[in-house]
Amino acid sequence: RTRILTGITTSGTPHLGNYAGAIRPAIESGKAADVESFYFLADYHALIKAQDPALVQRSTLEIAAAWLACGLDPRRTWFYRQSDIPEIPELTWFLTCVAGKGLLNRAHAYKAANDRNAEEGLDADAGVTAGLFMYPVLMAADILIFDAQRVPVGRDQIQHIEMARDFGQRFNHTYGGEYFVLPEAQIDDSVATLPGLDGRKMSKSYRNTIPLFAPSAELRKLIAGIVTDTRMPGEPKDPEGNALFELYSAFATAEQSAAFAHALRGGLGWGDAKTQLFELLDQQIAPMRERYDALIADPAQIEAILLDNAQRLRETYAIPKLRELRSAIGIRPLT
Ligand code: TYM
Repeated sequence: RTRILTGITTSGTPHLGNYAGAIRPAIESGKAADVESFYFLADYHALIKAQDPALVQRSTLEIAAAWLACGLDPRRTWFYRQSDIPEIPELTWFLTCVAGKGLLNRAHAYKAANDRNAEEGLDADAGVTAGLFMYPVLMAADILIFDAQRVPVGRDQIQHIEMARDFGQRFNHTYGGEYFVLPEAQIDDSVATLPGLDGRKMSKSYRNTIPLFAPSAELRKLIAGIVTDTRMPGEPKDPEGNALFELYSAFATAEQSAAFAHALRGGLGWGDAKTQLFELLDQQIAPMRERYDALIADPAQIEAILLDNAQRLRETYAIPKLRELRSAIGIRPLT
């Protein structure tokens, strides 16, 4: 069976970008009979950005509830919290010792932090933790430990998957065996990068997100705030590269999208366009939102699901994998 794996960092409230870029394609792929899926809450990754215990805890609950509300079946899918699998940080260290430092220097998130430092006249690496620098190695361990073949992600994560391949390959080469399967990114082209309220990529760090389960009235208000140009109703508008249109397309059928583009070119006003986008989204999200509200009110149920999955997953895959790897590198396997 093909193994599919993906994770979401628990450093905020799940947003439309997480849904369209990761949750929706992952749940769709997970339905196939010949697939074994692994979906998890990346709470170790959250520590890199969020050092607020209450926020990390709340976000973990919200993102877990979001996966379940969107249709993940925890009896058919491995659904777990990264920090419940201690074999992951152990593997992270093994991979750290084969990972090229030069490759990590080129990681987008690390480079972006230093570009900001340069712009602000600060020293290189000012404010950069070793955690941020090592982020791709932890992510590689997430993927490689379960020999995932496909990783559904948004475009921003492609480089990390390539690095996971690189580290896996180096390990295989160094120790002379097929210890790891090399993963491939799975990108849904229609939503590769969902824009946020200001037209830039929707991202927690830009504070331009639309929460996936915002109440209906808030969703309408947020959509009304999407940045558009000053073209008036009646003036033709170019759907190409337009945030409103891209958001609409990510949730619409091809026919709906084509009709929306046609209407914009024909002079549909931005106000009416926003109403149409709101109606499309609200109608799709409403049933999931109802399940989400019920789930979030019962954290004990979510906790039980996560713990049960983590325990079985460790016994089935993580512990045997680490036993094999420890032997391979000359360290005593834990008994
Ligand atoms: P994170 O938490 O930033 O985002 C989770 C997923 O949502 C996708 N995504 C988007 N997709 C389309 N448009 C957007 N605007 C948008 N914003 C976010 C991301 O591409 C991602 O798929 N490092 C990862 C979490 C992670 C992981 C892993 C993923 C940790 N280990 C192993 C896959 C495999 C991250 O921070 O994603």
